[in-house]
Amino acid sequence: MRIPKGGIAFFDSGIGGLTVLNACEKQFPEALFYYYGDNQHAPYGNLPAKKIRRYVFRAFKKFHRLHVSAAVIACNTATAVCVDELRRKFSFPILGAEPAVCPAALKGGRVVVLATKATCESERFQRLCQRTKERFPNADICAYACEGLAGAIERNVHRADFDFTPYLPKTSADAVVLGCTHYIYIVGQIARYFGCPVYDGNEGIARRLSEVLCENNSSMKNRDCRPLKVDFDPKLGFVTTKNPNDKISQKITNKRSRKILTKVPKNKQTQGLFFLGKQRDYNKNTHEQMFVWLKGV
Ligand code: DGL
Repeated sequence: MRIPKGGIAFFDSGIGGLTVLNACEKQFPEALFYYYGDNQHAPYGNLPAKKIRRYVFRAFKKFHRLHVSAAVIACNTATAVCVDELRRKFSFPILGAEPAVCPAALKGGRVVVLATKATCESERFQRLCQRTKERFPNADICAYACEGLAGAIERNVHRADFDFTPYLPKTSADAVVLGCTHYIYIVGQIARYFGCPVYDGNEGIARRLSEVLCENNSSMKNRDCRPLKVDFDPKLGFVTTKNPNDKISQKITNKRSRKILTKVPKNKQTQGLFFLGKQRDYNKNTHEQMFVWLKGV
């Protein structure tokens, strides 16, 4: 199988985009992935568009230097704010994340879109809702900004008993759309709370990525699914590995090796997953994120 040569980059404000990476990794299990989680500035939802744009461009400059084959903005907020500008500036294909409003509106009824404040206020999102309303006049589309929810998920996702429902709007729905990649972590709670079908856009992004890469490389084929396991370490942030007991994930719990692991070795790796970007730890210190070598451990 041919795999994309330059690697596939994913961007999110934090951990939300890992859910998108998870869906896409199944399509290209042997590719090289870069994941840039801007944990230093997450959550983005309440930041002004100007700041979000600046942070996203910083990450994309890094992707450009890494000669990626394609990049996925695995963040609805960043997509809503600056996907068009990014596409004008960079020559590699850029995929965005957009709330799956259309599939949810197909059957009509009350469609509740949960998203960040920045997404709800963006022109791009409002145009999407308008277009969908025109196409499906039986659907009543209502958007709700779930302020604080993405941040609460960043902090508490590893706590199985944490109640996120106080962040959800008190309303009824016939269909719910997850307009933020962070919310996918709590899809179970959201489905129970509203008692209706819940839609997210991740499979759509994975399909589109496959199409885009195949357009550039017609001999590329999809592969069988393999789950990407995401583990959370409250001190280090998050750790992604196929096997939590493998050598690498043990190594990165060590402070010294975390430093060593911040550099992507050149010309050696052709597959695996690298974390880029910065994050803040509990003491508010900022440091480069670790990366994890997934294959060949
Ligand atoms: N995960 C992002 C999104 O899809 C951003 C959430 C945030 O940082 O507030 O919108």
